Formats: sequence, C-alpha cells, structure tokens
Amino acid sequence: MKAITKIIVPVLSICVLNSCGGVPEEKTASAGEEKVFAVEEVLEMVAKENDVTRTLYTKAIVGGGKKQGMKFDEDWRKDDVEAGPLPALFLRGVATSIKKSPVPLGLYLGSDFPINAANKFVGKQANLFETIKKDQKPQFFYDDDQKLHTAMFADLASAGACVTCHNDHPQTSKSDWKLGDVMGATTWQYPKDSLTYKETVAVLNSYAKGTVDIYMEYLDEIEAFKESEKPEIGDKWPADGKYLPTPEVFLDSVRKLSSYETMKHLVAAK
Ligand code: HEC
Repeated sequence: MKAITKIIVPVLSICVLNSCGGVPEEKTASAGEEKVFAVEEVLEMVAKENDVTRTLYTKAIVGGGKKQGMKFDEDWRKDDVEAGPLPALFLRGVATSIKKSPVPLGLYLGSDFPINAANKFVGKQANLFETIKKDQKPQFFYDDDQKLHTAMFADLASAGACVTCHNDHPQTSKSDWKLGDVMGATTWQYPKDSLTYKETVAVLNSYAKGTVDIYMEYLDEIEAFKESEKPEIGDKWPADGKYLPTPEVFLDSVRKLSSYETMKHLVAAK
C-alpha cells in the first residue's frame, strides 16, 4: 500500500516544480527561490483544498458509505471496532501526517463548545473565533508566543449529520447546534511570512499526502475486518453500491474539484 503515496503525490508537482516546458538548468536552479507568496495566500489555498477534501470525505464516503451499511466511529482505530474515521478524525490524521513531514505547517480543528475538550480554543484564537462566528470571514494574525503566522477559517455545519451527531453525542458541550452554524474553525500555522514557489508547492503536497496517508490507513483497517463485509476498492464510489475509491481515485476527485483555483494562483505567480 505504501508505494502508492510515492506515485500519486507528485502529480500536483509535475508542472509545478519547474520540471516541465524545457526550462534551462540554470534558470531552474534560481526559479522558485524568490518569495512569491504571502503566507496568508498560501494558507488560504491549502484551506480551500481542505474544504473540498473534507466535504468530499463527509458526503461521498461517510454519508454515501453509511447508506451502504459501512460504519464510521470515533474509536475506529480500536481492534474490536470495524469502522472508518469520522470527518474530524480524518482531519486529525491529515494533521498528524503533516507533522511528521519536513514541512512546518500546522493544522488544528477547534471550537468553543467541543465534544473533545482538547479541541477547545484558548487565548487569542478563542477571541478571534468570536469574530468568525459573527461574520464567517477568515482571521489572520501573528502568534507571538509560538512565533507562528496563523490563519483561522470557519468550519460550518454543512450537513444534517454534523448537527445530529454533535447534539446527540454523550460528551457534547452543546446540544442545540443548527444547520449552517459555525461549529468550529480550522487553524493553520506557518513560521515564515512569505514562501517561495517551491515552499508553496511543498505545503500543498504535504496536505495532499496527508489525505492519502489517512485514507490508506482506513483502507488498511478495512483489510483487517473480520466480521464486517468489505467494500470493493476500485474506481467506484459508495453512491454506486458497496464500493470505495482507491486513494488515487479519491485524490483525483479532490484535484478536479479544487485544483483549478489553486492552479490559477500558482500559474499567475510564475
Ligand atoms: C457521527 C458523528 C459526527 C459527525 C457526522 C460529525 N462530527 Fe464533528 N466531531 C465528532 C466527534 C466525536 C468529534 C471529536 C473528535 C475528537 O476526539 O477530536 C468531533 C469534532 C469536531 C470538531 C472539533 C471540536 C469538537 O467538537 O471536538 C468540529 C469543529 C467538528 N467536529 C465539526 C463538524 C462538522 C462541521 C461536521 C459536518 C461536516 C461534523 N463535525 C460531523 C463527531 C461527528
């Protein structure tokens, strides 16, 4: 399974890492070294990729999968639980993978009324979250304590399942969430105020690799199922039956849905 990551992750970088279009060697060495993107722009790009990925996972895999009898659980990693990761834990998986990568990008999903107390915003992020709840606009600031540029983006109750699951959860700290509410925010952090072309692509690639890593962990979990029926893994989605897409097919859909905007940014900077 592991080999797949190596094959698919560079897809985004094919034309992006200056390796296409016959750029002369010397130029290649210096191109991509200038600071071309403000950190805010890059965090906005990766947050957009995350929006698309999270929606695709929540609706097509979790929503569609449940209709086919597939299970998703917060304890999905436990040996006796045969299930896939909930959307928030999918995101946590992505964050863990990024943390292990050489890219100094931080990702965190928090709230003022979390299910898991460890996800409660504190300090400056708690204050800014109050503003986000009112206008749903992103917030950017420099975190002096951590020495990190920080961006926060609203996480909305975009599906009925968000609301019912959170309201009914035994550990919930709020049981009157409504559709459309700002349930939380994703916080992204990066140490530098501007990024080179290469650093920007590295950020986007480490996010994409993170989604593939956690998705592959899910597929590995399925492989180890003893009691539950195993969906067929190929080019079909749960909407068609007891199927799950391969990591390539999943990532390909994310790209089709999100990359156009991201590409426009990257190409405009060249
Ligand atoms: C089937 C249940 C379920 C569904 C559906 C669900 N969540 Fe959650 N969500 C959880 C659980 C459980 C956690 C805590 C995970 C952890 O341990 O960090 C969580 C965590 C979160 C957090 C971090 C703060 C907290 O509550 O701990 C946010 C924000 C969040 N979810 C938003 C959403 C949104 C938005 C959706 C829909 C797009 C959604 N959730 C769908 C169960 C669910």
